[in-house]
Amino acid sequence: MNAPALEVHLDDDDLDRTLRSDVLTGLTADRKWLPPKWFYDARGSELFEQITELDEYYPSRTERQILTDRAGDIARHTRARTLIELGSGYSTKTRLLLDALTAQRTLEAFVPMDVSPTALTAAATRITADYPGLRVHNIVGDLTRHLKHLPDGGSRTIAFLGGTIGNLVPAERAAFLADVRSVLEAGEHLLVGTDLVKSPRVVVPAYDDADGVTADFNRNVLRVLNRSLGADFDLDGFAHVALWDADQEWVEMRLRARWPMRVHVRALDLVVDFAAGEEVRTEVSAKFRREGFERELAEAGFALDRWWTDKDGLFAVSLARAVPAS
Ligand code: SAH
Ligand code: TRP
Repeated sequence: MNAPALEVHLDDDDLDRTLRSDVLTGLTADRKWLPPKWFYDARGSELFEQITELDEYYPSRTERQILTDRAGDIARHTRARTLIELGSGYSTKTRLLLDALTAQRTLEAFVPMDVSPTALTAAATRITADYPGLRVHNIVGDLTRHLKHLPDGGSRTIAFLGGTIGNLVPAERAAFLADVRSVLEAGEHLLVGTDLVKSPRVVVPAYDDADGVTADFNRNVLRVLNRSLGADFDLDGFAHVALWDADQEWVEMRLRARWPMRVHVRALDLVVDFAAGEEVRTEVSAKFRREGFERELAEAGFALDRWWTDKDGLFAVSLARAVPAS
């Protein structure tokens, strides 16, 4: 099987430069943090796939159920000729959309974009084999920086699944949605999966599973820093923490130093001290309400055409349409 060509907007130099500047900013801040896109090297992408199969991790199976029920509606409503997917990973659930759109015979091209070349290549190889006649165009890129490289219209639908939009903080989210709107023409569509606000008794275990897969995934960012920047993080020295922030309505992932540590980041010539109990914020995962998300979409120039949830109201899939700029 041949893997389709990769279009790379994030080459090793670029990755290295952004990783360095992110790590320098994050680890020298008063309250330390690291941006979540660095979880996803080959091992991180695989660990995330394992998370999607955990009992505690309800978002993936719930979104899959909604897409199973609604893929036909999505195909009829969008009549997409090009399906673009952001943060596509292994594109597992996306097949439901590809099935419905190819059955309707509108779809010509599939364009997945992800920072992880491993996941992208694996997914595209399989999809190319399973959907003969579909043009698959892979883009290794950062969805916060490279949307301008997406192919031109028309009849495009951009899918952004998995609740990954919740991993952007509100200001990043507003900038991202405006950016998506600016690459679309009026009448084209955005399909977004959002996890919904619910009891922390349900949310928190999804980010802190009994088998420790999520903990391993969270600590993977330290492995990436050790390998890529010659850092010497002792992974055993960091505990995985998942906290519900009731004001922000998001889960916050952190790594907490179990004892005092001095870490060297050789490539940056940087020494970072951790006090016992000191935390590094690695990710937020915001949970949404319909009114709030509809407002965010409207502010970016989208009308919410459809809002679908599962019967328990755990997760939502929104189908939004780019409206003419006023
Ligand atoms: N869409 C899949 C995967 C979700 S996990 C699903 O629903 O199961 C989040 C995905 O987004 C990962 O594949 C990760 O590599 C990718 N990602 C994270 N930050 C990104 C960024 N800034 N730009 C592009 N992709 C990103
Ligand atoms: N998009 C996923 C989510 O917010 C990412 C994710 C799942 C994640 N589990 C995680 C990120 C644990 C960091 C740690 O649900």
